Amino acid sequence: MDKLLVYGQQKLMGKIPISGAKNAALPLFAASLLTSEVLTLHNVPPLSDIATMAELLTCLGTHYKSDNLSRDEMTVHLQADHVENLVAKYELVKKMRASILVLGPLLARYGHCRVSAPGGCAIGVRPIDLHLKGLEAMGAVFELQDGYIDAKAPHGLNGAVFEFPIVTVTGTENLLMAATLANGTTTLINAAQEPEIVDLAECLISMGAEISGHGTSTITIKGCGELHGATHKIISDRIEAGTYALAAGISGGDVELVGENLSSLLPTFLETISRIGLDVTPTEAGLRVRSTGSLQPIDITTAAFPGFPTDLQAQTMAILCLANGVSNIWENIWENRFIHVAELHRMGANITVSGAHAQIKGVQQLTGAQVMATDLRASFSLVLAALSAKGETLIDRIYHLDRGYCNVTEKLADCGVCVQRVRG
Ligand code: UD1
Repeated sequence: MDKLLVYGQQKLMGKIPISGAKNAALPLFAASLLTSEVLTLHNVPPLSDIATMAELLTCLGTHYKSDNLSRDEMTVHLQADHVENLVAKYELVKKMRASILVLGPLLARYGHCRVSAPGGCAIGVRPIDLHLKGLEAMGAVFELQDGYIDAKAPHGLNGAVFEFPIVTVTGTENLLMAATLANGTTTLINAAQEPEIVDLAECLISMGAEISGHGTSTITIKGCGELHGATHKIISDRIEAGTYALAAGISGGDVELVGENLSSLLPTFLETISRIGLDVTPTEAGLRVRSTGSLQPIDITTAAFPGFPTDLQAQTMAILCLANGVSNIWENIWENRFIHVAELHRMGANITVSGAHAQIKGVQQLTGAQVMATDLRASFSLVLAALSAKGETLIDRIYHLDRGYCNVTEKLADCGVCVQRVRG
């Protein structure tokens, strides 16, 4: 297993190109199952999660072609004109839970499919009950057999009014996609408002779907008989942008994040890091984030968009380890998303966790250590801590990092920071 060797006390200075959003690309790949025509996606990030989704779609019978436009960007062409195998295998679903996104499109287009139940993961139990309840409201019937969800919609899917009791991102995406091919109108109440949902809806509209209200908590979808091919450019990855903003802050650096609409993608987060003491200014190409020398403690509560994103919680905790006082984080989305704390402790952090609350007492200096990445976002919190630490840090299990951050060593090197991938 590869490791990452990070030399401490290095400043990030320069420009970071922000890649396309992984969490927008994954549902967009699944949306290709809604039509027999070609869906072309630009600004696709070269990541292992994307490769897993491509493998899943290929196994189902989708034609997949990719062009590498640059180090950080691919264009892909997906055509689901010969889908013969309607089974999403356990081997792929267990690798990446977002594979569940094929359920809605397959059911809507073919009336039946078999998708492995995803199971839990390091950050929480991660149920999919609301995906199933929403599709049931549209006429689907589910049976669990041998760890697989056998899904049927013998008379097709019908439009329905469904209210989510909890906001769910992929749940909203699954229902949104399914509803485009249903008979009649579907209204999703308490829908997720994440920018990735808006991006998906915009692409579906260019495929011929009739959707309104995306980006608000009520989405209305008028089902139509079929969708057609389209070309769509994926939005910038707000989590990658936020992570590198924190890298500039924790290292005492100054970076320009190059990407589109970054301010509107990260409203609460940017306001939070300004309060921590980072200087954030819009530029023509994106955003400039600069350390001002001191870090202030703050309180954070994670929430659905436009609240503070849970996917930036671990990385923000790393910077708060060095703030001038006591900070608090309440993690409201995932019940087990503090597993990085034990690794930060090994680097000298002073953090106390009690249930969904973490109290972080700032320390003067972190120190390098051997640590282990525990999940995707947590792995970058260790990179951040390591950049500021005294000495070297060796981070094990960086396959987690590869799932969601492309070309980390290269992007950091462009900003004068040396981290080394140790093959193992
Ligand atoms: C998506 C993101 C993930 C992010 C999360 C929250 C993708 C591919 N992944 O995950 O990076 O951390 O949103 O912003 O976009 N829940 C239920 N029943 C369900 C579904 C969800 O109880 O059927 C609960 C979950 O346990 C969790 C909360 O709802 O507490 C939010 O989860 P959800 O928004 O569904 O997360 P994902 O879509 O899996």
